[in-house]
Amino acid sequence: MRIILLGPPGSGKGTQAQRLVQRYGILQLSTGEMLRAAVAAGTPVGLRAKDIMAGGGLVPDDIVVGIISDRIEQDDARNGFILDGFPRTVPQAEELDELLKQKHMRLDAVIELRVNESALVQRVETRAAETRARGEEVRIDDTPEVLIKRLASYRSQTEPLIHYYSERRKLITVDGMMTIEQVTREIGRILHAIGAVGSKASKKPPSTKRSLKKAAREAPKPALRGRPTAKKAAKGARKAVKRASQATKKAAKKAVGRLAKKVTKRRVKA
Ligand code: AP5
Ligand code: MG
Repeated sequence: MRIILLGPPGSGKGTQAQRLVQRYGILQLSTGEMLRAAVAAGTPVGLRAKDIMAGGGLVPDDIVVGIISDRIEQDDARNGFILDGFPRTVPQAEELDELLKQKHMRLDAVIELRVNESALVQRVETRAAETRARGEEVRIDDTPEVLIKRLASYRSQTEPLIHYYSERRKLITVDGMMTIEQVTREIGRILHAIGAVGSKASKKPPSTKRSLKKAAREAPKPALRGRPTAKKAAKGARKAVKRASQATKKAAKKAVGRLAKKVTKRRVKA
């Protein structure tokens, strides 16, 4: 599964990403968390990002693209990931498309968490209060003043991604005003519907090696034309594996398209 969680600050990207990690054991890649770690460690990236983050702006594209590109190279990202807070600009989305293409990876869906702006201030204030109550350091950008700037950055630079992914039939919008549990359930439902998890369509196609053995074992006994050679069985199996994987990809693509269409219709009605 490879998905993007898109939404304004406080919409629940981090909360939902962590729940998906627990449920599906998939990797969460949060550029915000990575940048905060870099700031805390005082690395060159951290030094460049520190003031920008504190002011509610966006860190330059080349920095975040570099971070993500290095990270998805690593072994634990091979089976998929949840991008939380990346991409955040159209150039970042274009770079991501290129990266995935180079690595022969496919994006399953972009899940947009839509939340009323009025709820965001309350959420961020609650998070700051809870962090303080735990005796932990509050995020420097978790103040109503910086939140206003973060929202402005979101509107001007990140919101165009809604159009970007909607055009590519990847966008699925979820009502982020529901309870945390309801949002998780809705995302789970979507992931099943598009075949990204759990359903038959999402199952990895059998490994070629296993399929070859199975095909050889199950090859029909010869009638008149001589015993099927292992070579023939292997060829048949390779074809079957290719067909299965194409069918899986096609089914997932269709499901995203269908869901995206529904969302567009709903928007047009509204
Ligand atoms: P980042 O760390 O990504 O912050 P953000 O996008 O501003 O979002 P938040 O982490 O504040 O909110 P969230 O959506 O994760 O909500 P959460 O689940 O915590 O980025 C920080 C900064 O780093 C940026 O401003 C930028 O400077 C830089 N940066 C990062 N990525 C970048 C990039 N790609 N390019 C350039 N710069 C980048 O929830 C918030 C609170 O609400 C919690 O208390 C939670 O319990 C509660 N909550 C969640 N869901 C619900 C719900 N359904 N109902 C009620 N409460 C809820
Ligand atoms: Mg977050």
